[in-house]
Amino acid sequence: MASADALDLARGVPIDQLPDGGLIQGKAGDEDVVLARRGEEFFAVGAFCTHYGGPLAKGLVVGDELRCPLHHACFSLRTGERLRPPAFDAIPCWRVERVGQSVFVREKLPAQIREQAFGSTKLPQPPASVLIIGGGGAGLAAADTLRREGYDGPVTIISADDFAPYDRPNLSKDYLAGTAPDDWIPLRSPDYYADRHIDLVLKSRASSVDVRQKRVQVENGKAYDFGALLLATGADPVELPIPGASGSQVYYLRTFADSRALAHKAESAEEVVIVGASFIALEAAASLRTRGIGVHVVGIEQLPLERVLGSELGRLARELHEAHGVVFHLGQTVTRVDGRKAVLSGGASLEADFLVLGLGVRPSVALAEQAGLKVDRGIVVDEYLQTSAPAIFAAGDVARYPSPFSGELIRIEHWVVAERQGQVAARNILGARERFDAVPFFWTRQYGVSIKYVGHAEKWDAVDVDGSLEARDCTVRYKLAGRTLAVATISRDLQNLQVEADMEDSLRDILGSGG
Ligand SMILES: Cc1cc2nc3c(=O)[nH]c(=O)nc-3n(C[C@H](O)[C@H](O)[C@H](O)COP(=O)(O)OP(=O)(O)OC[C@H]3O[C@@H](n4cnc5c(N)ncnc54)[C@H](O)[C@@H]3O)c2cc1C
Ligand code: FES
Repeated sequence: MASADALDLARGVPIDQLPDGGLIQGKAGDEDVVLARRGEEFFAVGAFCTHYGGPLAKGLVVGDELRCPLHHACFSLRTGERLRPPAFDAIPCWRVERVGQSVFVREKLPAQIREQAFGSTKLPQPPASVLIIGGGGAGLAAADTLRREGYDGPVTIISADDFAPYDRPNLSKDYLAGTAPDDWIPLRSPDYYADRHIDLVLKSRASSVDVRQKRVQVENGKAYDFGALLLATGADPVELPIPGASGSQVYYLRTFADSRALAHKAESAEEVVIVGASFIALEAAASLRTRGIGVHVVGIEQLPLERVLGSELGRLARELHEAHGVVFHLGQTVTRVDGRKAVLSGGASLEADFLVLGLGVRPSVALAEQAGLKVDRGIVVDEYLQTSAPAIFAAGDVARYPSPFSGELIRIEHWVVAERQGQVAARNILGARERFDAVPFFWTRQYGVSIKYVGHAEKWDAVDVDGSLEARDCTVRYKLAGRTLAVATISRDLQNLQVEADMEDSLRDILGSGG
């Protein structure tokens, strides 16, 4: 419902109030609408992103797309269709009419007009069936894309998980903090799978792939034939056996079941030790502090998040957590557990109701190794996300792919990248031959402070900070030999989107020049 004093776009807006690329939020009837301009064309679409309600009027127009400032979902201004994850659903559209020097938002367009954007991939020889191993972000995005592209053969997702695909990033954030109900977590309703004839097989772990026979064996004895196969098996937490710790004292955080168990345990806990200072570890620390639990973070690193974000943001993360009462024990680890005490390598011991281990993840490559596919710290794929075997693709945390920027094989552990790879792999299964060239993007949120990161920098020789780290309003650029490889921002979402668009432009130049 639009607020009473919102600009009434149905009454017309002088075009000189809307520069090229500009966005104005207002209302049409009682709905919130964004009016956008691209050159001499005007568009009116829903004002809020269908992912987590991001304010699209604060987003970025790129060509005829509108991008969300929160997590970079992308919508068509012409049709409202969701073009890129993490959103799944379209936004509504209104007809816009120009009369003289003003534009008027008219009636809302029916949804079926928007649906006509589907079914664009031509299928010379569609596979007889598509089997997807893994019901995470990449697997669901692939199944969704197959149907959007008009593929009408059998689509099956086999997932070892107990639950249908869910919003994994939320598990360490609102859900663990106790501020998100269970029904926020599934990505799609049961009807969604039924309506699209996506066969979702849960609690089923694939144990082997017969590449020649095109058949996957599942641990429960069933076998599935496939025309094309997508491996989207994700990653598993790195485990650390801690002498003296019982099973009920040690928690990992990867699955919905993990987060539920942790949230349940947290209800009666007073002190927690978190081992590791990774993103997931720190998000868990923030969520447990929100519940009022005492949190100690023990990590071998000298600064949290330093390996990915550098010392400047690492220090900021440490200060942010300390300001919220977290106690760090860095440069050490937990050597054993003695009753309720976690004993550190430095000699101190900490009271702990339980321990959370956040030591990073390893790609789940067992199936690919068994199948004889090329594996090198991830399933090796080409620029089309195809593995070393024809008709077998890989996407998400498990895939190691050639970076279009550097040509080097990289593996990324970001939600949006996994979903975008799922999309591209699905189109390539259908014969699109589309290169995976999305600029990597991730976000983390701790105590309401969001860090957005675009690009990919494994090493750098200079870090430029623009703005104020203390005021949590800054841009941090990671450079190597003068070239910006990645940019992190706090409170500068529009700039983050702009950097992504600039990197896409520079990529077009690189690829266009044959580089
Ligand atoms: C708690 C948490 C918070 C996160 N927060 C963020 C964030 O804020 N921002 C961000 O960018 N990223 C975040 N990430 C990372 C992001 O969630 C991952 O990059 C993403 O989930 C990867 O998707 P995927 O589909 O490749 O793998 P997954 O989501 O891990 O899915 C893999 C699937 O494969 C299944 N599977 C594995 N092996 C088999 C088998 N043999 N047979 C059948 N099924 C199998 C699993 O059960 C699972 O369903 C977070 C991750 C976690 C755990
Ligand atoms: S709210 Fe728009 S992408 Fe998340």
